[in-house]
Amino acid sequence: MRIDVLTLFPEMFPGYLGQSLLKRAIDAGLVSIEVHNIRDWARGKHQQVDDRPFGGGPGMVLRPEPVVECVEDVQQRGEPAGHLILLSPQGRRLDQRAVEQLAGHERLVLVCGRYEGVDQRVIEILRPDEVSIGDFVLNGGEVAAMVVIDAVVRLVPGVLGDEQSNKEDSFSGEPPLLEFAQYTRPREYRGMKVPDVLLTGNHPEIARWRDEQKLERTRSRRADLLQDDDASKD
Ligand code: 6GU
Repeated sequence: MRIDVLTLFPEMFPGYLGQSLLKRAIDAGLVSIEVHNIRDWARGKHQQVDDRPFGGGPGMVLRPEPVVECVEDVQQRGEPAGHLILLSPQGRRLDQRAVEQLAGHERLVLVCGRYEGVDQRVIEILRPDEVSIGDFVLNGGEVAAMVVIDAVVRLVPGVLGDEQSNKEDSFSGEPPLLEFAQYTRPREYRGMKVPDVLLTGNHPEIARWRDEQKLERTRSRRADLLQDDDASKD
């Protein structure tokens, strides 16, 4: 998979991209990620990328020309042009199903919005898939782009070892369920013991216990995930 990130803050990415799982995926050639500075497409002596909103109001709006021209240039470089995403709190909300769908694309082009937003003509010209990572406000799309990359890359075949399959992940099933509680050594800590069933070596029994845990946790913490779903009653 190839991912292009278009941002005014490219310096936010190298630290994130250099961490272990992602670095291994990049080094192994499973994923390639290029970060582009939208400012490089700005015109004029001052390379101004943002301006005050027409009609007044606080903050600054990203001007259309550098964003549109940056996207067009980057998409023209290489094949395919890729699935264009604008990270924006106005977008459809990301969930694991959306992540799985995005992971099906050979190439993603992620545009990070900033400030009070981007000029509406960017959206009308480019018709991006607008994606939000939740109902809260971030200062910009950069952290949201990292969230999308992080979630998508783990679904690229070969990125996770067999020992760390994503089949068992929370939210990947139907219905999506929370994970069961995990324990490791020591067997007893501050008087609290690891549940006996996990120490029995009885794997069918352990699997049953974990399935019950998943359902119970999902019911008590995230009943919304089970709504109008019949599988949970089985
Ligand atoms: Cl994608 N961008 C911004 N600025 N805020 C957000 C977001 C994105 N998703 C949730 N909040």
